[in-house]
Amino acid sequence: MAHQILQGKKGIIFGALDERSIAWKTAIAAVEAGAQIVLTNAPIALRMGKINELSKLCNDAPVIPADATSMEDLEKLFTQSMEALGGKVDFVLHSIGMSPNVRKNIDYTNTNYDNFHKTLDISAMSLHRVLQTAMKLDALNEWASVIALSYIAAQRAFPGYNDMADAKALLESITRSFGYQYGFAKKVRVNTVSQSPTITTAGSGVSGFDSFFHYADKMSPLGNATSEDCASYCISLFSDYTRMVTMQNLFHDGGFSFTGVSHLVIEEINKLAAESANS
Ligand code: NAI
Repeated sequence: MAHQILQGKKGIIFGALDERSIAWKTAIAAVEAGAQIVLTNAPIALRMGKINELSKLCNDAPVIPADATSMEDLEKLFTQSMEALGGKVDFVLHSIGMSPNVRKNIDYTNTNYDNFHKTLDISAMSLHRVLQTAMKLDALNEWASVIALSYIAAQRAFPGYNDMADAKALLESITRSFGYQYGFAKKVRVNTVSQSPTITTAGSGVSGFDSFFHYADKMSPLGNATSEDCASYCISLFSDYTRMVTMQNLFHDGGFSFTGVSHLVIEEINKLAAESANS
């Protein structure tokens, strides 16, 4: 039985596509922790995904479609969520990412700029849109917590992560800039969680994903954080136990971000060197 640390809180969860999605696990964990939630995703994802299954697991949580790049959709989402939840919102999970360049295997150095715009709009500017809409409608309670999910490619080069790296850098910057504004205006906090590679639809779309999943696992003293671990961390950040944390990028990666090299990776390199010397 989960601790009821979100008892009485109301939240909106973006981005649960299927049971592998980080948002899916977070939605279930939030309800287990006592919260009442609304689920949302892009209309096309709602048609293709399994959100009704998730809604059932979440005390029949209302499902409200919203394309996170449409201000009209977002306004409807917040207005209808407040009606459905019977009041203002205490937490929001932005778990949204998509790059047409990644999907179409277009290399970073040969980018298509229409696609690049879409990547930035869907994966980063959408957080600004969500926050701006919430602020205009005064839809968030004081001390509300907004979390967006990021990846360490915002700070370090990872070949294959493509324009999503730039989107994550922008996402983290919006977190700081809007977090400052919303903190002063309404004591709302905004943070990103920088998660380990995780096997999901968005994750496994990145080229070479399997290799860097295993590399990260070997590099991280605690191993890769799973989507369930990520959900638990998000619950703690939605709760009042972390009420003074804002404008941060919080690494949730088993120690990967602060490890230079691990003995496991060195052993692998030594093995390869021995094999090539013997061949
Ligand atoms: P996922 O594919 O399950 O979730 C991505 C979600 O974004 C989907 O539900 C999709 O429908 C939604 N989305 C796409 N376009 C949208 C739009 N226009 N409006 C509204 N929603 C839209 O994959 P995952 O991995 O759970 O991704 C969630 C977040 O976690 C993303 O921001 C991703 O970049 C981030 N993340 C994922 C990692 C991984 O290795 N899987 C590692 C670090 C961060």
